[in-house]
Amino acid sequence: MTLEIGALVSGRGSNLEAILASIREGRVTGARVSIVISSSAGARALEIAKKYGVETEVFDAANLHLKRQDYDRLLMDSLRKHDINSNSGLVVLAGFDKILTPEFVKEFSGRMINIHPALLPAFKGLHAQKQALEFGAKVSGCTVHFVVPEVDAGPIIAQKAVEVKEDDDEESLSNRILIEEHQLLPRAIQLFASGRLKVEGTRVFVS
Ligand code: GRF
Repeated sequence: MTLEIGALVSGRGSNLEAILASIREGRVTGARVSIVISSSAGARALEIAKKYGVETEVFDAANLHLKRQDYDRLLMDSLRKHDINSNSGLVVLAGFDKILTPEFVKEFSGRMINIHPALLPAFKGLHAQKQALEFGAKVSGCTVHFVVPEVDAGPIIAQKAVEVKEDDDEESLSNRILIEEHQLLPRAIQLFASGRLKVEGTRVFVS
């Protein structure tokens, strides 16, 4: 059975493009992106979705002025229409800039993953690459993890380390990490789609 993916985006959409290209080129099998939902009407990710012929929906957070619960209800209804719910499908946060309510996160427990541009649990939250530079880390990287109510804290599926160079600035480090993100996220989706991930407490085992 094909895994239906709902991708939540807010901006540039380079990770979304990496997923779509991986599916098109057969590096990810048994999965398809059935809906791309954006929290911003101007997100470039929407153009990428259209280029790949994927249905899109926009819930423009800046104009809707909804309570978080009501906003998340819109997301949930849209995902459910595409058979993504508590026991089927996968939600991928691919540069989604809104923090989801605990109710939403619980609904998709074990079925929602996020990509973060640092080696968690280091440098959680916004501007992770800048945090790594300012801290003086010699290594940073990226992490794909299951989403839990606490931000950037869920069971880790996969990580890739990236060297921090002495002459790096935020942009150069972010770009080198991004190259690895584009490999790591599709790989994690492939593992999920082929049923190879097992979560036990805070740990993920890959069979
Ligand atoms: C990526 O750096 C990702 O790790 C973070 O948000 C950024 C999204 O970039 N969560 P893009 O929209 O996929 O290009």
